[in-house]
Amino acid sequence: MFILVTGGAGYIGSHVVRALQQANFKPVVLDNLVYGHRDIVEKVLKVPFVEGNIGDKKLISQLISGNHKATSFNKIKAVMHFAAFAYVGESMKNPAKYYLNNVSETLTLLDALKVEIKNRGDQIPIVFSSTCASYGVPSNIQIPIKESCPLFPINPYGRSKVIAEQLITDFGHAYGIPSVIFRYFNAAGAHPDGDIGEDHTPETHLIPLILDVASGLRKNIKIFGDDYPTPDGTCIRDYIHVCDLAEAHVLGLQKLIKNPGQYIYNLGSGKGYSVKEVISKAEYITNKKITFKVSSRRLGDPPILYASPIKAIDELFWKPKFQDLSLIIKHAWNWHQIRFK
Ligand code: UFG
Repeated sequence: MFILVTGGAGYIGSHVVRALQQANFKPVVLDNLVYGHRDIVEKVLKVPFVEGNIGDKKLISQLISGNHKATSFNKIKAVMHFAAFAYVGESMKNPAKYYLNNVSETLTLLDALKVEIKNRGDQIPIVFSSTCASYGVPSNIQIPIKESCPLFPINPYGRSKVIAEQLITDFGHAYGIPSVIFRYFNAAGAHPDGDIGEDHTPETHLIPLILDVASGLRKNIKIFGDDYPTPDGTCIRDYIHVCDLAEAHVLGLQKLIKNPGQYIYNLGSGKGYSVKEVISKAEYITNKKITFKVSSRRLGDPPILYASPIKAIDELFWKPKFQDLSLIIKHAWNWHQIRFK
């Protein structure tokens, strides 16, 4: 069964590709390589790769209707949609980039699906990569965050994901596109084999930046504020292992195949760790001193965010295997030493 994975050359997409392979699906990666890595898809994952944009309707139509050599002219049975820009800060400075790519091009992808569904007379499920940024700053909502929490995104990135969620839901009702929307908390870690992992340019995420310090690639890390209303004053986040995240996507796809519908799930561990706790765990795992400087707060950072992952656990029978933050950092460190040596 061929599955189109948009953005499959990126961090989360590449781990989902591997999980799909292990579950005997046939992933085909479509990626424009703005942030993705061709070598990972071609040399490590070894799956068919198409360089292109989700906004290229002709290409999407060819791929899903079985008119492309990447699928040996087989039809695509489902879509996993990861292709998106995901820098909160950049989205504040350049919202057009986010609305064009994350919203307008998602609309093009859905429109191509709509046409193919009509031609085929059969449904094409989609699994969509959304974010906890959809919830915004949970000042009035309960922590842990449940899927029923109201969505008040506070930046164009979060808003672009909420609009894309709505597009998927509306197209689903109107044209028969079953969907699972996953709202990720802080994806982290790397595959235990050490051959795929996080490699962003520029890197802005906490754990890889800490590991840059451990490996000597950076002198120190800035802590964005230590005067938050948390036990040690630094922000608390929910770090979820990327392989657990990937596994949930396979379960989501299997659910859509057996039981088409429209589903939304948080993917998080349900536990929160402060920035200082992450630094001290990383010092222990790497056996290196992580020098940090406390700087001012980063705009738009909520003090505490963590998920209630109960719905995904109950309904998808999701069993996260790598919940422990030490294991997440250990796998990330293993990958980091191989990739950035
Ligand atoms: N942090 C630092 N210093 C750094 C980098 C991060 O102190 O150099 C802190 C942040 O302030 C935050 C925590 O470490 O408290 C985690 O920051 P990340 O940038 O790693 O992750 P975010 O929580 O900001 O981002 C995540 C997802 C985004 C999503 C966002 C929603 O990666 O995709 O949550 O809030 F949009």
